[in-house]
Amino acid sequence: MANLASMLQAQPWWLLLVSFLLVSNCVNAEPQVPCYFIFGDSLSDSGNNNNLTTTAKVNYPPYGIDFSKGPTGRFSNGRTMQDIIVQLLGFQEFIPPFATSRGHEILKGVNYASGSAGILDESGQQLGDRVNMNMQLSNHQSVTSTIAEMLGKCWASKLLRKCIYAVQIGSNDYINNYFKPEVYNTSRLFTPHQYAAYLIQQYSQQIKTLYNNGARKLALFGVGSIGCTPNAMAIHGTDGSTSTCVEKLNSAAQLFNQRLISLVDELNTNLTDAKFTYLNPSGISSTNSLGFTVANASCCEIGSNGELCVPGSEPCGDRSQYVFWDAVHTSDAWNEIIATEAYATEFSGQAYPLNIKKMAQLQSNNDADGDICEIGENHEVI
Ligand SMILES: *[C@@H]1O[C@H](CO)[C@@H](O)[C@H](O)[C@H]1NC(C)=O
Ligand SMILES: *[C@@H]1O[C@H](CO)[C@@H](O)[C@H](O)[C@H]1NC(C)=O
Ligand SMILES: *[C@@H]1O[C@H](CO)[C@@H](O)[C@H](O)[C@H]1NC(C)=O
Ligand SMILES: *[C@@H]1O[C@H](CO)[C@@H](O)[C@H](O)[C@H]1NC(C)=O
Repeated sequence: MANLASMLQAQPWWLLLVSFLLVSNCVNAEPQVPCYFIFGDSLSDSGNNNNLTTTAKVNYPPYGIDFSKGPTGRFSNGRTMQDIIVQLLGFQEFIPPFATSRGHEILKGVNYASGSAGILDESGQQLGDRVNMNMQLSNHQSVTSTIAEMLGKCWASKLLRKCIYAVQIGSNDYINNYFKPEVYNTSRLFTPHQYAAYLIQQYSQQIKTLYNNGARKLALFGVGSIGCTPNAMAIHGTDGSTSTCVEKLNSAAQLFNQRLISLVDELNTNLTDAKFTYLNPSGISSTNSLGFTVANASCCEIGSNGELCVPGSEPCGDRSQYVFWDAVHTSDAWNEIIATEAYATEFSGQAYPLNIKKMAQLQSNNDADGDICEIGENHEVI
């Protein structure tokens, strides 16, 4: 940092900006990684569906009742899990949704997540338009092209390999595909084992696309306990006695997660200049001991779709007591717990092989690949 003052005088603003992004670890006010990209579904969406023709959008009250900017399209009373991880990493602002991201803010990351999206292109289509994983990847391709135009290719790839790429997708391939046999064929074409293998095969290609686009720190979140949502219990019922969850949904999700963990192992073995980690989004079972008194009901009043809050309705008052905000999505209070786990847990059942905090601290060992960028490389500045 000693030469920063001289750089200030000598270099154009864009190089200064890159320098800040690249050395950010030594400046207290800067985040632990220069950038954070988010891919996924409604668990991470922060407004990408607002202008799409779909029933899977929530830019109305009471969504956002506990969020500083009110209803933004987040499927939560407050923050999503990704929002909280972003805060824990020290970012001053949330990551902007792709739909509204502008100018140099994309250098700190973009959120591509879209409610009802899945690994498979068709998942969620009965709800309307969505940005599925393959489209999110092509949106990211155009963002990284823009970054390369802004910084020059060399600086861009130097920056992109230091970012964390968070991906949480797969729930809709189950709840809005496999377990909707009246709309989709998959449950007739595949056993749960075969379907998990099929999804992971597609997902593996998608993750490699991300790697080929410069990603070197990838945090892959499993599918949560989709059988424990109020919606799942209302639709499928429970076996009534021992479990309060829908076992067939949870066990299908477990098959996916087991294969995802194996995929992480394989990717870490095969792509040694990158680091992949698996995060368990629902590893905590004893909700009551964590201070949540209601784990089986929604905080808000649920509309006829059985999933989302009735627009303008009055939600419960004690929102920190509820695991679920609506019939599918968890509350800010719960999200804070799972985000903190993903960020800092030392338990390998929750983060394997490493948590987000440690992933942030990893030095990209490909700084040793002789990739020294030239000062004058940049040209276009938007
Ligand atoms: C939706 O469209 C409006 C009007 O064109 C625009 O102001 C807004 O930024 C868009 N929002 C999103 C999330 O795309
Ligand atoms: C389901 O399978 C039938 C027969 O193979 C086919 O005609 C139909 O288009 C399929 N539907 C969907 C949604 O894939
Ligand atoms: C990793 O490499 C092995 C051996 O080449 C290969 O069989 C396997 O498919 C690769 N796995 C992934 C996820 O690329
Ligand atoms: C939730 O669980 C409580 C007991 O823990 C039970 O009294 C209540 O009926 C359950 N509510 C629903 C909607 O299943």
